[in-house]
Amino acid sequence: MTAIPLGVPRRLVEFTLDGQEARVPEGSTILDACRAAGKDVPTLCQGDTLTPKNACRVCVVEVEGARTLAPACSRRAEQGMVVRTDTERARHSRKVVLELLASSVDLSTTPSVAQWIKEYEAKPDRFGPDAARVDEEPRVDNDLYVRDYGKCILCYKCVDACGDQWQNSFAISVSGRGFDARIAVEHDGPLTDSACVYCGNCIEVCPTGALSFKSEFDMRAAGTWDEERQTATTTVCAYCGVGCNLTLHVQDNEIVKVTSPHDNPVTHGNLCIKGRFGYQHVQNRD
Ligand code: SF4
Ligand code: SF4
Ligand code: FES
Repeated sequence: MTAIPLGVPRRLVEFTLDGQEARVPEGSTILDACRAAGKDVPTLCQGDTLTPKNACRVCVVEVEGARTLAPACSRRAEQGMVVRTDTERARHSRKVVLELLASSVDLSTTPSVAQWIKEYEAKPDRFGPDAARVDEEPRVDNDLYVRDYGKCILCYKCVDACGDQWQNSFAISVSGRGFDARIAVEHDGPLTDSACVYCGNCIEVCPTGALSFKSEFDMRAAGTWDEERQTATTTVCAYCGVGCNLTLHVQDNEIVKVTSPHDNPVTHGNLCIKGRFGYQHVQNRD
């Protein structure tokens, strides 16, 4: 019989969300409540397995009585709070954030962003080509994953996943300050000279595709990457006794990438190099 952990019972917090009564367990964020109510609040730097960083501000909502807009991803719901997610002020702020991001980095592989740009009537070229933050070619220095910092929104999710929140390798960090801030490994060198252990947990959390599987990068370059033709099957990694869940993404009968379910209470979407990248033998037909 499978034991389902129930956790500690939590008091319910009652508040008003877009004019409707909402009840969420104490400690929930406004975003948790929005998702439970089926509301689509855009997020980029929020990670369901990471501590909120409040870096992108695309999720802002209006809280009655508050001077500034509140990030829904990190602001906890409080008893009696009155929250509005779709006011003119919140929508205008999201629009400008999307315009700033789209002007400064390449969002072509960011899921959902094209739909938000349309919904908020944002003009991606509003600040012109001079606003581009990074002008460099993707870094392809190993066979497993590619770093394309021209797509990086500096959300620091990869830093958290590589550092004290999950992997504890601390290979990825922020170098530089202000406008010169960028994600880098030690001495800004190749990944192969760094402390990276190739778990790929940074790719799992990157919201823009700035970090991507080499398999996906190569297929995109060849014009063969097609998510509509892919299936995802979750299975158990057979390499060792930990028993992590692997989700195999398959296109044309070939594994094209491996992710892991974030709601797994043991691994939370994290894997090691073998589970994430060690699938070539499956496809060896010789
Ligand atoms: S590489 Fe990805 S996860 Fe890391 S800071 Fe940039 S956008 Fe965020
Ligand atoms: S992903 Fe790594 S740690 Fe997890 S079961 Fe496979 S080999 Fe073991
Ligand atoms: S998603 Fe909330 S601040 Fe980025």
